Amino acid sequence: MTNLSARMELTERLEALRASLPDKVEAAETLEELAGLEAEAIGKRSLVAQARRELGTLDPDARRVVGRQIQETADEMARVLTARRTVLEAATDATILERERVDMTLPGRVPAHGSLHLVEETMNEIVDIFTSIGYTVARGPEAETEFYNFTALNIPATHPARLETDTLYLDYGDADEEVLLRTHTSPMQARYMEERDPPVYVVVPGRVFRRDALDPTHSPVFHQVEGLAVDTDITLADLKGTLAYFAREIFGPETKVKFQPDHFPFTEPSAQMHAYALGQWIELLGCGMVHPAVFEHVGYDPDAVTGFAFGMGADRVAMVRHGITDLRYLFDPDIRVLRQFR
Ligand code: PHE
Repeated sequence: MTNLSARMELTERLEALRASLPDKVEAAETLEELAGLEAEAIGKRSLVAQARRELGTLDPDARRVVGRQIQETADEMARVLTARRTVLEAATDATILERERVDMTLPGRVPAHGSLHLVEETMNEIVDIFTSIGYTVARGPEAETEFYNFTALNIPATHPARLETDTLYLDYGDADEEVLLRTHTSPMQARYMEERDPPVYVVVPGRVFRRDALDPTHSPVFHQVEGLAVDTDITLADLKGTLAYFAREIFGPETKVKFQPDHFPFTEPSAQMHAYALGQWIELLGCGMVHPAVFEHVGYDPDAVTGFAFGMGADRVAMVRHGITDLRYLFDPDIRVLRQFR
């Protein structure tokens, strides 16, 4: 009797499970939910497992019948669960695929790349014109000694350019010599000649510094390209021919140039070269024949060699070529200004 009612009860509960599980399984939205249902239906603590354990208490006939029922129920539950798992797994894969989809037909993302600053670009072009006619390129220190910036260039101790009102001196503590931010690229004339014997054909692009307030035509930092040619028979005609050639190369073949007397302590005679380009006269550079005192400072024999030197403002050249009327635009960090000239 107990046996019979136990058997009836088990049978009913298995039937109930068989009837209710498929709907629950169908309703499961995630694999985790499904795993929960699986544990409940056929796991170690499930009704099926419990029924299997109770099987031993039934008499052999009932055991066979109920045993088969348990097995059928377990198989069917497993089938239902597996079917749903297949569906959910496919859906999960689809979600992942969608999320990680790459559209191979989209155009690539081009990383933003910079370009040379107008002044840098202009200096490169100036330098290229000279290297193409045999000059080499050198660079010098921006922090320079008073000796190279002034003394070696025959600039007297009393010259106003040495005053703190014009020159930015650096505080170098115990240095035996005054150190300053070079006010021009000319110190490299002396440094370069000291290091080698003539002939010399060199250009020196670089940054220079003066104690000036920033305005449309002045900046405390600006750029020069220095040039120096020293050989046995260099004349003023070589200076004029070379610099006129340069002006036509940089501004175009129609460019006119004129020379006006000027004064620099390190050249004699000295001149200022102006170029007529793009509808205006531009004061382009200072130049002259290298002063014998400079040759003496660097150990060259002033009776054996002659030479010419020049120093031009690279910012001015960049402005003229690009139609920029205010120097400050060149040093303004607003990328929109520079982008226009890409
Ligand atoms: N160093 C001079 C300046 O800055 C230019 C210059 C260079 C003049 C070489 C003559 C020779 O104004």
